[in-house]
Amino acid sequence: MAYIPGRKRKPVKTAEAAGRKRARPARLDIDLEKLQEAYGALEESTRHLRESHIELILNFALAAEYKDPDTGNHILRISDYSSELGRALGLPAEELELLRYASPMHDIGKIGIPDSILQKPGKLTAEEWAVMQQHTLIGSRIFKNSSSPLLKAVSVISLAHHEKYDGTGYPQGLKGKAIPLYGRIVALADVFDAMVSKRCYKSALPFEEGFEHIRSLAGTHLDPDLVETFVRIKGKVRTIYQANRSIQRAIEEFGKKAR
Ligand SMILES: [Fe+2]
Ligand SMILES: [Fe+2]
Repeated sequence: MAYIPGRKRKPVKTAEAAGRKRARPARLDIDLEKLQEAYGALEESTRHLRESHIELILNFALAAEYKDPDTGNHILRISDYSSELGRALGLPAEELELLRYASPMHDIGKIGIPDSILQKPGKLTAEEWAVMQQHTLIGSRIFKNSSSPLLKAVSVISLAHHEKYDGTGYPQGLKGKAIPLYGRIVALADVFDAMVSKRCYKSALPFEEGFEHIRSLAGTHLDPDLVETFVRIKGKVRTIYQANRSIQRAIEEFGKKAR
């Protein structure tokens, strides 16, 4: 047959191709029960690995807290406030989990700051303050090249949690939505918790005053949209706040009795 452009030539059937067509796929002999068993074991070991990962991360966060003992259960409250905010924003479950477990690590970089600065009772000098600000960069560098999404989130949060919405924060002076969302969320949780908690250099603001203070920072220090969401979930925030107050009181009572 003559070759006509545009017309598909009928493929020539080779003996090999014909044989391939005729061959039936080998029957797979699957033992469903064994497959389910193997899958269950895999799931179990993945769960175990995930839990160890999370445990390791929280221990890391506690190590940083040891250097800054004033903050007590601060890291756990940050985790609660941040995840409630994330939930109210409609973040998907896997992102909520990242936020829940990465947010307590926001100050992990403090392991690289000298105790003389970290635990100085008085005001920091300009040089000391510059060193203190480095904790954002240190924390970010530790986990920057990690392949784990959780540790990557820790790196992002470490770097961004002292940025301010109006661009006057540190270390990069990022502005508005250019600050990663996790950083903006943790910044709000961090400021609120600092306001309503007692520290060696200040007393705690009452809950309502702390809330008003957060409102007053909308658009300057904090993302106004997040502040609005925070106000919307005030009831949930109060529950976390009160639960922690009860724990704190119980610890103080226990301390008094033990003395
Ligand atoms: Fe910090
Ligand atoms: Fe903090």
